[in-house]
Amino acid sequence: MKALILSGGHGTRLRPLTYSQQKQLIPVANKPVLFYAIEDVIEAGIKDIGIVVGPNKDQVIETVKSVDWDADIEFIYQGDPLGLAHAILVAEEFLDDEEFVMYLGDNILKNGIVEHAHKFKELNPESLILLTEVDEPQRFGVAELDENGRVRRLIEKPKVPPSNYALVGVYFFKPVIIEACRSIKPSWRNELEITDAIQWLIDNGYRVEASIVKGWWKDTGKPEDILEANRLVLDDIQPKNDGITENSKIMGRVVIEFGAMIKDSVIKGPCIIGKNSQIINSYIGPYTSIGNNCVIEGTEIEDSVVMDGSIIINAGRIVESLIGRNVKISEHDLKPKGCRFVVGDNSSVWL
Ligand code: DAU
Repeated sequence: MKALILSGGHGTRLRPLTYSQQKQLIPVANKPVLFYAIEDVIEAGIKDIGIVVGPNKDQVIETVKSVDWDADIEFIYQGDPLGLAHAILVAEEFLDDEEFVMYLGDNILKNGIVEHAHKFKELNPESLILLTEVDEPQRFGVAELDENGRVRRLIEKPKVPPSNYALVGVYFFKPVIIEACRSIKPSWRNELEITDAIQWLIDNGYRVEASIVKGWWKDTGKPEDILEANRLVLDDIQPKNDGITENSKIMGRVVIEFGAMIKDSVIKGPCIIGKNSQIINSYIGPYTSIGNNCVIEGTEIEDSVVMDGSIIINAGRIVESLIGRNVKISEHDLKPKGCRFVVGDNSSVWL
């Protein structure tokens, strides 16, 4: 079996971060979201991986190539994000008439995909989709099941959802899906929707089975989703200390990476402090990920993600925040007094 991982698209709901960073590269517990997908398909024994890339393709390629993966990885250029079914058509040559799993590169699943890959082999349908019950089904593709648990109908982001079963971004397919993707028309948002292609399979008499996801699942489409995914992943981390701590208190499950320095501070896990970061006279509270090469001084931070190279000095108390790369936040004694901002387009600030 092959794997097709999607890492294209514009990530508009994550602006301004996605002006400079492809959305699947945003870190959760200091690891790009995309890496969770790659690890899951490798864990399922798949060695042949195609990654669909779009607008920021060079960034994605460079980041993926910085790791020595136990798999062959090929990159497939999609250009404009014309839909999940369009991504499959673009990858037709790579897929080479074999069965495959398609994994959306902005999804994270606690328990991976091994169990579902087995189910696909065992039941041998034309497609196996992953479902989970959610509170806001109108945000997702939604499935209507029959009395035997088979998929009867799929609708993309319905105003009136027929059930609470959302489609998780992992789909197993036989090669006939290519014909389905070729047969459908673009939706109202001008995308070739994968839900329409799977519906085509059902309407043409092919078998589509569902597998229910146990454990959490997160689509990291919006800032609050990144923070939630960060909490969920940090809840499972194993503590380690490869850094230097001086006159500091470390409580709970904390990962301190190589070269990090913690001085006169309190760190309360679960949290992670990245390589070569300095935490001085500060409090880092639960559910916080501090990236590599950051400086945090005289500040309290809790329940937040701070990305590589950011410097935060005497900034008071920061909570539930998503702070990009190389950001500077500090107190000042300039006149006139008052908050000073250099904030990019589509940023959000709560004072
Ligand atoms: O996360 C699960 C949901 O993913 C499903 O419930 C929906 O049925 C499915 O359509 C999809 O909805 P989203 O609105 O979240 O899709 P999004 O546009 O965010 O794209 C999903 C991923 O695929 C994202 O990592 C970007 C990438 N992508 C997207 C498109 C449209 C591509 O690589 N190429 C594309 O053309």
